[in-house]
Amino acid sequence: MSRQKLIVGNWKMNGSLADNEALLSGLSAAGGLSSLDVAVCVPSLYLSQVRDCLVSGAIAWGSQNVSEHDSGAYTGEISARMLKEFGVSYGLVGHSERRSLYAETNVLVGQKAKKLLEMGITPIICLGETLGQREAGQTFEVVLGQLEAAVECVGVGKLGKVVLAYEPVWAIGTGLTASPDQVQEVHSYLRGKLALMDANAAISLKILYGGSVKPDNAEALFQQEDVDGGLIGGASLNLIDFLTICHLAVSVTTH
Ligand code: PGA
Repeated sequence: MSRQKLIVGNWKMNGSLADNEALLSGLSAAGGLSSLDVAVCVPSLYLSQVRDCLVSGAIAWGSQNVSEHDSGAYTGEISARMLKEFGVSYGLVGHSERRSLYAETNVLVGQKAKKLLEMGITPIICLGETLGQREAGQTFEVVLGQLEAAVECVGVGKLGKVVLAYEPVWAIGTGLTASPDQVQEVHSYLRGKLALMDANAAISLKILYGGSVKPDNAEALFQQEDVDGGLIGGASLNLIDFLTICHLAVSVTTH
């Protein structure tokens, strides 16, 4: 089965009304992306702007975080139901910056993914090892622990409705990219573990790679059998770079 590739931009805490307008109008005018799924995950404050700019086009939008609660006295938090009201299709959970800077645990990440699923939003569950963990030979153990904790929260029956993003922490925003072989090795490991949980879901589930994906390395990464697209940070803020990465994903799909 061939999985349609998915390219997701992660704007992180970047943007302004004026900059977004330029980027979004370029994205919504872009052609040649019909064989691809594309989304941008933006600061929540900009969701209404993004919805207005993208609603008539082929590009979806998403959030970068969500509360693990439904509603109530949680100052500063945003619920999955609120995201749904703004037409959000995808939600990042467990990004390494959330895990390391905001102390999000594997269990919390799973709870957040569950809340998104309850609203029909696709969670993009991010996982990945630190440099120290890789050097200590713990990569597989770490990503498996992150995966299993998330699956325990969302339930094996929901596996077909999630996306995974493998993002080695040492490759995020550093300019260091994992080699295509290193990426494929982890992706195929994860898919093998998923197959033990639900064979059908393992075949259809998309596993993205993230970590310094740029126009000059995207093609080799996307050519890997178990790499179903990318989670793009820095390069997603540049219209030409992001669209170039999208078109490379299209060309890998069609050749
Ligand atoms: P980067 O970020 O592409 O800037 O490395 C990726 C991410 O954090 O999702």
